[in-house]
Amino acid sequence: MSAVKRIAVLTSGGDSQGMNAAVRAVVRSALYHGIEVYGVQRGFQGLLKDDLFPMDLRSVGDIIQRGGTILQTARCKEFMTPEGQQRGAEVLRNRGIDGLVVIGGDGSYQGAYKLSKLGIRTMGLPGTIDNDIPFTDFTIGFDTAVSIVVDAVNKLRDTMTSHERASVVEVMGRHCGYIALYAGLASGAETIIVPEVPHDIDAIAQRMSDNFKAGKRHSIVIVAEGAASGNEIAEQITSRTGIEPRVTVLGHIQRGGSPTHNDRILASRLGDFAVRRLMEGDSGKGCGIINGELVATDIETIVNTKKPFDLELYNLALRLSQ
Ligand code: ADP
Ligand code: F6P
Repeated sequence: MSAVKRIAVLTSGGDSQGMNAAVRAVVRSALYHGIEVYGVQRGFQGLLKDDLFPMDLRSVGDIIQRGGTILQTARCKEFMTPEGQQRGAEVLRNRGIDGLVVIGGDGSYQGAYKLSKLGIRTMGLPGTIDNDIPFTDFTIGFDTAVSIVVDAVNKLRDTMTSHERASVVEVMGRHCGYIALYAGLASGAETIIVPEVPHDIDAIAQRMSDNFKAGKRHSIVIVAEGAASGNEIAEQITSRTGIEPRVTVLGHIQRGGSPTHNDRILASRLGDFAVRRLMEGDSGKGCGIINGELVATDIETIVNTKKPFDLELYNLALRLSQ
C-alpha cells in the first residue's frame, strides 16, 4: 500500500542540466506504481497560481537528453512569506495531492522544508550546477557544467599556448567553488580561486611570472565568481607583473546543453528514489547519493549545513600544477 496516490513535481530556482531527466524519472516511476502525477509550471510561482497539469508517460518522452526544464522554473518572492507557503499548501490539498517532489538548489530546499512543516509530504532532489547541496556527493547538473568548462579551457589553451599568454576563466559558483575545483583539476589549471579558500594574489602573480620565465607557454587561472571576478584577478596580475591575461566569463553557457550520462543516471536514480520514499510515507527529506548509495536526509539538516569543501582535491590540483 502506497502512502501517496497523487503527487506533484516542480523545478525551481536556477535550472540545471538533468532536471528533465529527473522529472521523467519521477513521472515514470510514479505511473509505474499506479500513482497519478501533476506537473507544476514555473516552480513555486506556478504553485501559487494553481498552474498544474496532469502528466502521462508521453509527456516526458524525448526529454532525457534535453537541458533546461520542460516544467519551466522561476524565483518567487511571495513564496518566501508564511502566507505564500500557506497558499501553496492549500493549492496542493485542494487538488488532493498528497506528495510533492521539489527539484532545485538550496533556496528551493528551503521552500520544500517550509511546505513539509505545513504537513505536505515533500521530497527534495538536488538540481543545481553548483554542487553546493550537502549530503549528496554530486548534484544534478554539476557533471555537465564541469564538462562544459573543461571543454572551454581546452580551447583556450590552444590559443594561449600559441601566443604564450595567460588566461583567466571565470566560472559560476556564487558561494561555492566546486565547479572551479573540478574543472581546474580536470583541465590542469595553474591556479584555482574559490570562495572557500583565501587566495594570495601576490603569490599567484609571482608564480605566473616565474613559470613563464622558466619556459611555460601558457597559464590558466580558474576563478569562481563567488571569490572574485575574472576581470578583477586579471587587473591585479597585470598591475603586479605586466602580464595581460585574457579574460573569459563563461556565464550561463555552463547551465545549458545536453546532460552528461552521469547527470542522467544521477537524476534517474534520485527521481525514482524520491517517489519510492513518498510511497513509504517519508517526508521532509532531501535525496542524494553518497559513495554510490541512495540516501534521504532531513531537509532541515540539509538547509542548516554547509557542504564541506574538498580540500584534498584542492591540494592535489595545487601539487600537480607546477
Ligand atoms: P535555488 O533553488 O537554485 O537555490 P533560489 O535561491 O532562487 O534558487 O530559490 C528558489 C525559490 O525557492 C525562491 O524564489 C523562493 O520561491 C524559494 N525559496 C528560497 N528561499 C526560501 C525560504 N527561505 N523560504 C521559502 N521559500 C524559499
Ligand atoms: O544555479 C546557481 C547559479 O548557477 C550560480 O552559480 C549563479 O551565480 C546563479 O545561478 C546565476 O543565476 P541567475 O542568473 O539565474 O540568477
